[in-house]
Amino acid sequence: MASRVIPVSPFDLVLFGATGDLARRKILPGLFHRFEAGQIPAGCRIIGAARREMDVAGFQTFVTSVLAEFAPRARGKDLQQFLTMLDYVSVDARGDRGWDILPGKLRADVVRAFYLSVGPALFAEIATRLSRAGVVTPNSRIVVEKPFGRDFDSARALNRELRQCFAEGQIYRIDHYLGKETVQNVMALRFANALFEPLWNCQHIDHVQITVAESLGVEGRGAYYDHAGAARDMFQNHLMQLLCLTAMEPPSRFEPNAVRDEKLKVIRALDPVPQSDIVRGQYRAGVDSGSYLQDTGNPDSLTESFVAMKLQVSNWRWAGTPFYLRTGKRLRARLSEIAIIFRDPPHAIFPQMDNRRGNALIIKLQPDEGITLRMTIKEPGPGGMRLTEAPLDMTFAEALGAEIKVPDAYERLVMDVIRGDQTLFMRGDEVEAAWEWIDPMIRAWEESESRPAPYDSGGSGPEDALMLMHRDGRRWREIEA
Ligand code: BG6
Repeated sequence: MASRVIPVSPFDLVLFGATGDLARRKILPGLFHRFEAGQIPAGCRIIGAARREMDVAGFQTFVTSVLAEFAPRARGKDLQQFLTMLDYVSVDARGDRGWDILPGKLRADVVRAFYLSVGPALFAEIATRLSRAGVVTPNSRIVVEKPFGRDFDSARALNRELRQCFAEGQIYRIDHYLGKETVQNVMALRFANALFEPLWNCQHIDHVQITVAESLGVEGRGAYYDHAGAARDMFQNHLMQLLCLTAMEPPSRFEPNAVRDEKLKVIRALDPVPQSDIVRGQYRAGVDSGSYLQDTGNPDSLTESFVAMKLQVSNWRWAGTPFYLRTGKRLRARLSEIAIIFRDPPHAIFPQMDNRRGNALIIKLQPDEGITLRMTIKEPGPGGMRLTEAPLDMTFAEALGAEIKVPDAYERLVMDVIRGDQTLFMRGDEVEAAWEWIDPMIRAWEESESRPAPYDSGGSGPEDALMLMHRDGRRWREIEA
């Protein structure tokens, strides 16, 4: 099966932070791949904007070296054509330099996208300067990366500042998890199949587990991470989004506000979580890796690199069915999955069924995208009725054919910005609601100055996280690659 490519309309994309890490690793390679796939038509322009003084030729050389590292297929005619789309302006986000040059680089009749791949402290400042420079047209959009605030107040203030320059319909708040192909598949699986939805509720589902485990540590981002921690870095955004897609009601249409309204309702239905249902952890040194305290250079840090919580979505569909969520760094493997654990059959007719385990639907998000359905079947052979478990396994790569290339989340998201489709971007009220819910919990542990529980690098997280499930007579799925 080959994927269909529909070209987008002509655009001018101004990439602020064009020489930064995210631009190098994700955005520039992503744009090249979309160009190579035929989705970006000739005549589109990508204008790098950064503090560094450079001319266009310098930027082309820079992008060539970036692509050599992060998009090794970029060669020959495709690369040459891609380079002709580039332009560059040296701007000072905090000063006046360069802002008078930018308007002359933009065309009146095409989509304008201003992508802020910069630190969050610059979001409002750049938006204001764009507005002052007179370049914000009705056909303009602004893209902001996470973190979107560090609590409810700062997120609300940032929303207010952005909305002074751009309408809500022009603001694209990125959560790259929403751009992941399999995360979108959660919606397809639920709402394009009639099989699961009748069972998708507290009557049939015992509990849900959402795991986003990383094997890496803080990797040179210690200063940022130590100020954030797992709750702000991963939980408030990526895990909450996975929870929303799993727990939401079917929207009436696959349309940006219909989808985001339903996600917002999930966040608003979340009960506050008592500290007894939260486990925070911090990784110890491993055989060849430093401890969290060494990696961040902060021997007194009380910041968590792991967090697990038991949540309750208080609505008709989910009453009494808990959601257990966990995320952490330096765990046994890189693995993200949503596991729907169904209730046991109501009555046991087979002798062995005392140890029965309910069916489970595992949606594997990464690294190997696919779904597995845990079934109980008869163990083959004569001599009685013995039962065993067998997975019904489907890896999307196998099912759809090797020629299907799963695009990186950023490729999808940048094209959606140009198309003007906000479905996979967080709305302002959604981000605020997520902060409003998590803020009191973060504040409580920060004020108590409690120390996160240490856990072994390469393990499954702190013992207390296992207990969070054990005390309810449940257990986490293994973190295995
Ligand atoms: C980012 C976090 O948003 O997501 C990082 O800031 C984390 O700390 C990353 O490593 C994980 O993303 P992915 O796509 O590798 O699962």
